Amino acid sequence: MPVLVTGAQGCIGAWVVRGLLKRDLDVLLYDLEAEPARLKLIAEAGERKRLAIRTGAIEDSDRVKALIKDEGITHIVHLAAVLMPYCQVNPVRGGLINVIGTLNVFEGARDAGRPVRVVYASSSAVWGPEDAYEARRLSEQDPAKPATHYGVFKQANEGNARAFYLTNGISSVGLRPWTVYGVGRDAGLTAAPTIAMKHIVLGQAYKIPLGGYMDLQYVEDVAESFIRCLLAPIEGAHVFNLAGDVVHMDELVVALERIRPGAGKLITAGGPQVPVAYRMDDSALRAAVADIPKTALEDGVRQTIELYEKLNREGRLA
Ligand SMILES: NC(=O)c1ccc[n+]([C@@H]2O[C@H](COP(=O)([O-])OP(=O)(O)OC[C@H]3O[C@@H](n4cnc5c(N)ncnc54)[C@H](O)[C@@H]3O)[C@@H](O)[C@H]2O)c1
Repeated sequence: MPVLVTGAQGCIGAWVVRGLLKRDLDVLLYDLEAEPARLKLIAEAGERKRLAIRTGAIEDSDRVKALIKDEGITHIVHLAAVLMPYCQVNPVRGGLINVIGTLNVFEGARDAGRPVRVVYASSSAVWGPEDAYEARRLSEQDPAKPATHYGVFKQANEGNARAFYLTNGISSVGLRPWTVYGVGRDAGLTAAPTIAMKHIVLGQAYKIPLGGYMDLQYVEDVAESFIRCLLAPIEGAHVFNLAGDVVHMDELVVALERIRPGAGKLITAGGPQVPVAYRMDDSALRAAVADIPKTALEDGVRQTIELYEKLNREGRLA
């Protein structure tokens, strides 16, 4: 069962690839980048020896469709995308990568000549700002009101996934992470909490340039959720929220100090609230798919800092 992972060299991609390799599955990595730099941070050389890597752009329709057909792909984890703030500054290019790229994946699944299951990264950015909703957890039945191009692109992908099921019978799951944190998270607007953890290990000052609340989700849990959705034989076009621990950025700094005394002197936080509602109900996912993991925030932060400390001892934390 060859699994294609797009955006495989990214943060979530590296952890998904690691999780698939641990299950002894054949994995084909597709990304602009050839070098599995993030995977090298989290997986030993022995675990990485069965990788097949192809480089290319997700918006290259012919290439993506040929890859799915010719490599015998039966399962896809589609993660390739550009994030915030890139999409807000470059909406045309962002739409090409995030929307046309996703259509390429689904067309490739449609034209493969065999059943192909697709799990893809949507985002909590499909939600509008917190004040656009009542003060309660949002379920998938609540209306998406994205306030950014990135969120609108993700909403479009969810709609296209639904259309591919209704028209072509392609089953899919879209997951909506909020802020993913953990080793490897270094790109995008909400990478700041992880960058702060890295600075603690380096003994350097850092200001998280955001304020207010985030829902922080440990990257290993998020990757495992993608894999469990991929392997669960659920029929239809599903979209699920993911929920981690909602924390105010000031509380995060206090938690960092608790985990590594002295961190409070290095790390500060302040700036705008990310314009995305942060109270998520993920009971639909937990009802549909067994054993979705959830690591408590302090445990995930501790694991992240310990891994950074190990990398630092090995001279691998530039
Ligand atoms: N990290 C989060 O907090 C978060 C939250 C919600 C949703 N998501 C979604 O999860 C997915 C993965 O996010 P991530 O944090 O791993 O991001 P990342 O930036 O670490 O990884 C994205 C990967 O996609 C690749 N890529 C970018 N443009 C490409 C293109 N044109 N063709 C092929 N590959 C391309 C990049 O090289 C990179 O390896 C994305 O779809 C993102 O929108 C992430």
